[in-house]
Amino acid sequence: MVETKEIIKETECEFEPKIIGFLCNWCSYAGADLAGTSRVQYPPNIRIVRVMCTGRLDPQLILNTFRYGADGVLIAGCHEGDCHYIGGNYRAYRKYILLKEFVKRMGINEKRLRLEWVSASEGERFAKVVREMVDNIKEIGPSPFGVTITGGVVEDEPEPKI
Ligand code: FES
Repeated sequence: MVETKEIIKETECEFEPKIIGFLCNWCSYAGADLAGTSRVQYPPNIRIVRVMCTGRLDPQLILNTFRYGADGVLIAGCHEGDCHYIGGNYRAYRKYILLKEFVKRMGINEKRLRLEWVSASEGERFAKVVREMVDNIKEIGPSPFGVTITGGVVEDEPEPKI
């Protein structure tokens, strides 16, 4: 006789992180494109937002992305010294350091935010970063701000601390 517990377990969905990737147009977006055209496999958990340069990213946009329930945010741009706007990626790095502190204060695990340099020729590297991020976030679990469906139970979104 089949236990109802087993049936329920079978119907439970595995947590699939929602990751938003802000990729610079000139390097990382092209790297992601190369991963796609080279048919390099990576999890479909990432939604990509193309920006002209990581240096133009407004920190408020990143915080709002978490606030609206993203389980992870990836910022990816050109390697050091390769930014097409000279120092945009250095500005992005400085913002990233501050953002790490802010997200911690929001009650979000800082591992949910990641900054990587990925060039246009690094399709395999882009796929590796996404795979690692998905694995890490699966370990941490869903965002505390996300409305998630786990085993058929809809959890309410907690009030943000900011
Ligand atoms: S153009 Fe790629 S990080 Fe600035």
